[in-house]
Amino acid sequence: MDIRETVLRQLKNRREGFSLEQPFYIDQDYFKLDMEMIWYRDWLFVGHDCEINRSGNYFTVQVGDYPVVIVRGRDKVIRAFHNTCRHRGHRVCTAEKGAAAKLVCPYHQWTYDLDGSLVFARQMGEEFDKADFGMKPVHCQSVGGYIFICLADEAPDFAPVRQTIEPYIAPHQLTEVKVAFESTIVEKGNWKLVWENNRECYHCAGNHPELCRTYPEAPSATGVQGAADDPVISEHWQRCEAAGLPSTFTMHQSGQFRVARMPLVEDAESYTMSGKRAVQRPLSDDVKISHIGTMLLFHYPTTWNHMLVDHAISFRVLPLSAEETQVTTKWLVHKDAVEGKDYDLEELTHVWKMTNDQDRQIVEENAFGIRSPAYQPGPYSPDHEGGVMQFVEWYTNFMTDRLQGDRAKLSAVA
Ligand code: FES
Ligand SMILES: [Fe+2]
Repeated sequence: MDIRETVLRQLKNRREGFSLEQPFYIDQDYFKLDMEMIWYRDWLFVGHDCEINRSGNYFTVQVGDYPVVIVRGRDKVIRAFHNTCRHRGHRVCTAEKGAAAKLVCPYHQWTYDLDGSLVFARQMGEEFDKADFGMKPVHCQSVGGYIFICLADEAPDFAPVRQTIEPYIAPHQLTEVKVAFESTIVEKGNWKLVWENNRECYHCAGNHPELCRTYPEAPSATGVQGAADDPVISEHWQRCEAAGLPSTFTMHQSGQFRVARMPLVEDAESYTMSGKRAVQRPLSDDVKISHIGTMLLFHYPTTWNHMLVDHAISFRVLPLSAEETQVTTKWLVHKDAVEGKDYDLEELTHVWKMTNDQDRQIVEENAFGIRSPAYQPGPYSPDHEGGVMQFVEWYTNFMTDRLQGDRAKLSAVA
């Protein structure tokens, strides 16, 4: 049977409230289908506006088979292009990041302007028209300091993402920041395991001693239900909203993205061992109150985020293979904050460096156990793992819709 039909059937017969069947976490063909159906079709967070502040600043990213370059133009607009030369396909930008007046392919020096148009190609004959060989554009949107791209020919409407998340991000002024530190790790596990682990804190008490000093283990904070009924959380929302900070739990009807501002434990203000601020220069001048907790944003399949009073942390997930996932973490501070004066890098990064490493170990051991022929899908905790169930439901719905949509298109052609 065709792999698409097999996956569709398995998703339809899935036992609700249980983890997925083994091949969803380890099989190459299932992985390829994930890439085609989700990663090559959805909006993906790739990086921050502040990383390419000046015209000609660029960074590159690899999404499955697609190398992409994101560059700021002379007009300050951020654009994305397929990073494959229109001559014979060499990568135009080979560095992870850089600055250039023009993008020059290293192979034969075809030269592209920052808007992707080809401006120079040596001795290509009289018939050659440069206008036919510009770099191919990739859909690109920037919202509140976050850059998203979409590899599909036709991108899904970005307006709902913008409308939902912009008001929540805007007060944090994440365009006026710099990356104080970034780390990239590879977790030997499927990207869905990375997400499942992220979407619950059932594992926190047993695994994250540093994070648990400040982040509440309560499922109402991480999950998808019960937040509004929690008196501590609803009082937090009222206080923050009165100070102009959108806070209430808001999830898009598709289940793909959510924003919510959650209190930290007791008096904590930041993810430090003491709970005190790690950065003396506040992140945003628009935030006028203290103890704002953490603004949580996730957007499947690439990013989850924490926005605090003194800094913000973004996480970017990129699948490398069926059993390897890259996770990049960036610590954002106000652009004028000075290392050594306003913050100590070790203090700023310690808790999440530890937490990331603990999560990596969990994901890898999870993947280990799932590879066993004895593995069978197990039940999620209804009290603690509502967020995981929500993620799996989103995955199932998106895959099913698209697999069925493609089948309908194919049969219409036949
Ligand atoms: S492949 Fe880029 S210039 Fe030849
Ligand atoms: Fe964790």
